[in-house]
Amino acid sequence: MAQLTGKIALVTGGASGIGRQTALRFAAEGAKVVVADVQDGPGAEVVTEIEKNGGEALYLHLDVTSEEAWAAAVATVTEKYGVLDVLVNNAGLGQADTLETTSLALYEKVVAVTQTSVFLGTKAFAPLLKLSTAASVVNTSSIFGASGGFGTSPAYHAAKGAVRTLTKNIAIEWAPLNIRVNSVHPGFIETAMMGDTDKEPYIATTPLGRVGQPHEVAAAITFLASDDASFITGAELFVDGGYIAR
Ligand code: NAI
Repeated sequence: MAQLTGKIALVTGGASGIGRQTALRFAAEGAKVVVADVQDGPGAEVVTEIEKNGGEALYLHLDVTSEEAWAAAVATVTEKYGVLDVLVNNAGLGQADTLETTSLALYEKVVAVTQTSVFLGTKAFAPLLKLSTAASVVNTSSIFGASGGFGTSPAYHAAKGAVRTLTKNIAIEWAPLNIRVNSVHPGFIETAMMGDTDKEPYIATTPLGRVGQPHEVAAAITFLASDDASFITGAELFVDGGYIAR
């Protein structure tokens, strides 16, 4: 049997990069996948690809910063499936500024997309997750949620650090319900977020000597989402080529 047979899953940021690979992998493992993003064209293409491969998926326009949008997503999933087994809070927004060049507006925007979204989404879907017999929430944090990185991107570091501890807090609250909540911490992954920046500093600080690929993070998310991880909650799984071990 595939790892996620029969599970209903929702992946935010599912149109691109790590979220896209996660949606594709989930479907290949037997899940029905709700691909949620604000990039409607690329999101719909992910659904088409899943369907072409014989899987089931639907695209949902969902701005993860909007409580109303989350309520609408819950209504759609309730009507279509009546339950949610796997929630992947993966959407995020990077930044590359220093502390003094980070405006309050930018700080709040990065926190809204990267951090507050996890609170809003998990809270909104709580009733549907509680209807599952073995629910799993996977939050995408970062190596930058557990280190000072290069001493830039303060809003991103603050937001990802909050995702790490929020994950553990909800894991404790929901452990008696058998709802597992874990975080994945990607290292430097070749996606749109990385863009065309010079990869040398990434490679130099990564013991495995290369950047990662989104499917390598998707594999870890799939494991945490699956019943193979049935005794794992409140954990942080680094997918970083050894970055955090230095
Ligand atoms: P990406 O840029 O390929 O994907 C991010 C997706 O999030 C995009 O499809 C984008 O449209 C979506 N998104 C942005 N704002 C949104 C909003 N308000 N509502 C809904 N969706 C929204 O980047 P990537 O790398 O796949 O990022 C996925 C996650 O992985 C993010 O949380 C990121 O912070 C995290 N991450 C990425 C690393 C990397 O090196 N690429 C390293 C560590 C963490």
